Amino acid sequence: MKVLITRSIPDHFIARLRQLAEVEVYPETIKAMPKNALLEAAKDKEIIISMLSDKIDKDFIDRNPQLKAVINLAVGYDNIDIEYARSKGIIVCNTPDVLTETTAELGFTLMLTTARRIVEASELVKTGNWVGWSPYLLAGLDVYGKTVGIYGMGSIGVALARRCKGINMHIQYHNRSESQYAAELGADYVSFDELLEKSDFIVCTAPLTNETKGIFNQAAFNKMKSSAIFINIGRGGHVIDEDLLEAIQSESIYAAGVDVLNNEPVGKDHPFLTDNRITVLPHIGSATVDTRDAMIELCIKNAELILQDKSPVSQVK
Ligand code: GLV
Ligand code: GLV
Repeated sequence: MKVLITRSIPDHFIARLRQLAEVEVYPETIKAMPKNALLEAAKDKEIIISMLSDKIDKDFIDRNPQLKAVINLAVGYDNIDIEYARSKGIIVCNTPDVLTETTAELGFTLMLTTARRIVEASELVKTGNWVGWSPYLLAGLDVYGKTVGIYGMGSIGVALARRCKGINMHIQYHNRSESQYAAELGADYVSFDELLEKSDFIVCTAPLTNETKGIFNQAAFNKMKSSAIFINIGRGGHVIDEDLLEAIQSESIYAAGVDVLNNEPVGKDHPFLTDNRITVLPHIGSATVDTRDAMIELCIKNAELILQDKSPVSQVK
């Protein structure tokens, strides 16, 4: 069989697959494979190890009838038309669990960073504009003891809740169903409206689906407290960008911190960057060396098993 890996990864991982298959690797480390190059390279491949920036849509699947498996280097798989892939018998794998704690940690970091205006503070020093201490210089908001509202209580939501509990936050959440793990942490299950209306921090950790797309829109931001901080570590597609910007500019909410954006990568002219009250990060939720190693390891393990005609360990069902 033939395997395509759509980004450069360490050689020792590639060497393992080369013992079992012919492997082509797109040599870029940073940039996504352009659509045409991906289509061209995929033509004779049965297995693709893909990045979240690769669109594996209906058209792509139709053009690649030889495709047997797509192994996505991410827990989220909204870049893949999962229903269509399933209907064609294509195995789809993702990288759950190994990135849970790391991603929750970034969510928690973003809560603190946004509330305490860390990026703005660092910029003040870097730009030589720090003229002295003053009582309300860069005064932000406290996080401890506040109410966090977690939208999407999967394993990342639970790991975030544990961190919030450590600083004595009251935890409430909204999810398709109630979570036993959340209940054990003393978190309250609430309606989506209640989550918006009664949380000091609203954190989106949900997967992007047709139901959750654009859910953080004008109506949602209008329900939040004017002191609320909105954090997004899910996907950019959960948010209507104009509505978030308007909510910030009209001071209908206090601030926002986002690790994920619509149309990534965005440039320095992105409207969110016009306002200091929005902290923007370049989709680094799971970006620690250990966790990225573990995610790649899991993808390679899945590929090895599929190449040996065995069941992969983390197939999206
Ligand atoms: C990152 O966003 C992931 O889904 O793993
Ligand atoms: C949100 O996470 C939901 O599952 O509805």
